[in-house]
Amino acid sequence: MALQFHLLTSQSPKLPSFAMPQLASFRSPKFVVASTLRSTSREVEALKKPFIPPREVHPQVTHSMPPQKIEMFKCLEDWAAENILVHLKPVERCWQPQDFLPDPASEGFQEQVMELRERAKEVPDDYFVVLVGDMITEDALPTYQTMLNTMDGVRDETGASLNSWAIWTRAWTAEENRHGDLLNKYLYLSGRVDMRQVEKTIQYLIGSGMDPGTENNPYLGFIYTSFQERATFISHGNTARLAMENGDIKLAQLCGTIAADEKRHEVAYTKIVEKLFEIDPEGTVLCFEDMMRKNITMPAHMMYDGRDNNLFDHFSAVAQRLGVYTAKDYAEIVEFLVGRWKVERLTGLSGEGQKAQDYVCGLPARIRRLEERAQARAKEGRTIPFSWIFNREVKL
Ligand SMILES: [Fe+2]
Ligand SMILES: [Fe+2]
Repeated sequence: MALQFHLLTSQSPKLPSFAMPQLASFRSPKFVVASTLRSTSREVEALKKPFIPPREVHPQVTHSMPPQKIEMFKCLEDWAAENILVHLKPVERCWQPQDFLPDPASEGFQEQVMELRERAKEVPDDYFVVLVGDMITEDALPTYQTMLNTMDGVRDETGASLNSWAIWTRAWTAEENRHGDLLNKYLYLSGRVDMRQVEKTIQYLIGSGMDPGTENNPYLGFIYTSFQERATFISHGNTARLAMENGDIKLAQLCGTIAADEKRHEVAYTKIVEKLFEIDPEGTVLCFEDMMRKNITMPAHMMYDGRDNNLFDHFSAVAQRLGVYTAKDYAEIVEFLVGRWKVERLTGLSGEGQKAQDYVCGLPARIRRLEERAQARAKEGRTIPFSWIFNREVKL
């Protein structure tokens, strides 16, 4: 089964990386065979290594932004203070995970936990696989703060820097931290998942990092985060909708609340890129094209649980089947960003800039065509065991 999937993905046309991640492409035949062995032997093999080496092997480009543009970001600090920091919420007005969870200090704690578990019983396994994947993605937050602080001109130079970009990054991280925290505690209390396997996956993922191809370049970085915040807004919104359909209104509220945060973050990041388009349309459209040609790699693309070498592919396939995050969503996000930044209306571009403009404007239609062809070829009925839910099988 694993071998079949490997061959299937490696022969597929290039699609956005969430749908057809490139993980499979570098795997040696040894890995493919290994994935058909019993989980215990794979875990024993993993025990011999202190860490799992990064899985992507494409060339890593660094510091691609010309140094003179670093000055431009310094000049934008006052603008960011007035226009970006306003999208943060004061801590005293923020929700906290505890607002959505049984209160461990209350008399009724056990009863509240039992109610939560009763509601969770009505929710199917495949939903839990997707919710776990989303939670693990949120819980790898140290990686995302690191990634933001790789960017030239906007990084937090001291860890407590007073410049607007650094203030944003720390406060954004602090807001995001509530997402993984809430989902993690909910899943723990639900009793539906193998927490140890989930925790191992988080440890592996943070150890692996991520490779979004943003090259220390804040143009690329902020285009990436604009895309990602919208992607998470869509996926948490869809897990909210599905929880509601399964009759769990409290779980729906929890996911919906996280989605609302993602939306606020999307507004901030897209505003930064809008400003870059205003100051430097040529440079920004070229970076937009570059990010789109590379495909937006999902933040958790290196996820691994010690057993499944194609865990991210499998999680993505379930998310796609349930309609939590699909190739159509990917196309919709590109279309949204093209419209949000008025890319079609850019004027005064060089020949190269115009080519980039044409490429990104035509991209949503191209993704949709590829997606339709991939859907037509997709095989029905394969199931995969997920360690996160005690190796119960879930349809891809
Ligand atoms: Fe988040
Ligand atoms: Fe986010």
